[in-house]
Amino acid sequence: MSKITAAITAVGGYVPDFVLSNKVLETMVETNDEWITSRTGIKERRILKDEGKGTSFLAIKAAEDLIQKKGLDPKEIELVIVCTATPDMKAASTAAYTATQIGAVNAFSYDLEAACSSFLFGMSTASAYIESGRYKKILLIGADKNSSFINYKDRATCIIFGDGAGAVLFEPNEEGLGLQDELLRSNGEGREFLQATYGGSSYPINADTYNEGKHYVFQDGKTVFKNAVFNMADVAEKILKRNNLTNDDVAWLAAHQANKRIIDATANRIDLDKKKVMMNIQKYGNTTSATLPLLLFDYESQLKKGDNIVFAAFGGGFTWGSIYFKWAYNS
Ligand SMILES: CC(C)(COP(=O)(O)OP(=O)(O)OC[C@H]1O[C@@H](n2cnc3c(N)ncnc32)[C@H](O)[C@@H]1OP(=O)(O)O)[C@@H](O)C(=O)NCCC(=O)NCCS
Repeated sequence: MSKITAAITAVGGYVPDFVLSNKVLETMVETNDEWITSRTGIKERRILKDEGKGTSFLAIKAAEDLIQKKGLDPKEIELVIVCTATPDMKAASTAAYTATQIGAVNAFSYDLEAACSSFLFGMSTASAYIESGRYKKILLIGADKNSSFINYKDRATCIIFGDGAGAVLFEPNEEGLGLQDELLRSNGEGREFLQATYGGSSYPINADTYNEGKHYVFQDGKTVFKNAVFNMADVAEKILKRNNLTNDDVAWLAAHQANKRIIDATANRIDLDKKKVMMNIQKYGNTTSATLPLLLFDYESQLKKGDNIVFAAFGGGFTWGSIYFKWAYNS
C-alpha cells in the first residue's frame, strides 16, 4: 500500500466589502499613498465594519464558499481548525461556533494561534492527522479580524493590517501529493517587538490600562522587518536545499503577505522569477492567518496538479517556517 500524504482538495475565501484605501488613510493619519505603496506594496485593505461580527463571521463565509464550490456535505467534516490571532471572544472556541454554523455537526473543533504563522503551522497539524490515518476530512481555516485590535491613529500599524479569511480542505492522497516537508521555528525573544500587551492574562484590561491604548497591536516595524526578511528567506532556502529542488522545480512561492519587500527578499534569496510569486498584498494588506489561504483562493485557477509550492510565513512570537507542498488538482 502506498504511503498516505495530506493534500488540499478544495479552497474557499472571503473578504468583507468595505475597502479602506490608502487615500482614505491619508485623511486619518499622517501618511500618503506613495509612502505606503513604496514601503509595503499595499494599496487597500478590507475591513469588517458590522457591529457584533467577529472573526467567526469571516471564517464561516470562507468555509461556506468552499463547501458550495466543492459540493461537500458538511456532516462529513471530522475536524475544523480555525487558525486565528483574533478569536471572537475569550474562553469560547471560535472554531466550535464556526463548525456548528456551517453544519459540521459531526466534527470536533479548536482554534490554533501562532500569530501570522498560524495557518502555516495549521497545515502541519492538519497534515499530521491525515497522514496518521486518524481523520480523512479536515477543514483548515485561516481568519482574522485585525481591525478589532488596530489603533487607527498609529500609522506604523493601521496602514498594514486588514480583515479576511480563507479555508482549505485536507484529505488523504495516494499519489504522493500534498505536504512533502516542513521546517517550522519559533523564538520567544521576539515577542517584545510585536504584541498587543493588554487584554491577555499577563495584563488584563481595566479602565486605566484602556486609556493607555496598550490593548492595540504595537510593533517595532524595523526589527520585525529585519527578522522577517532573514528568517523567511532562510527557511525557504533550506527547505529547497534539503529536498534537492532548484528554482526551476518550484512553480510557486506562497509567502505570508506582510510587506511586499519581505516577499521580494524571500523570492530573491531562492532566485525565483517574479511570475512565480503569488501576490495579493496590494488588495488585502496583512490579514494575518488568512494570507496563505487567500493566496490559494486568488490563484487556484492557475495551479496545476503536481505543481511544487513553497509556503513561507513569519509572525509575532516570533514564529516562522516553510512548507514544501505538491498541489493535487486542476480546477
Ligand atoms: C512598518 C514598516 C512598513 C515601516 O517601514 P520602514 O521602511 O521600516 O520605515 P521606518 O519605520 O524606518 O520609517 C521610515 C520613516 O517613515 C516614517 N513613517 C513610518 N510610518 C509611516 C507612514 N505610515 N507614513 C509615512 N511615513 C511613515 C517614519 O516616521 C520614519 O521617518 P523618519 O525617517 O523621519 O524617522 C516596515 O518596517 C515593516 O513592514 N515592518 C514589518 C511589518 C510586519 O511584517 N509586521 C507583521 C509581521 S507578520
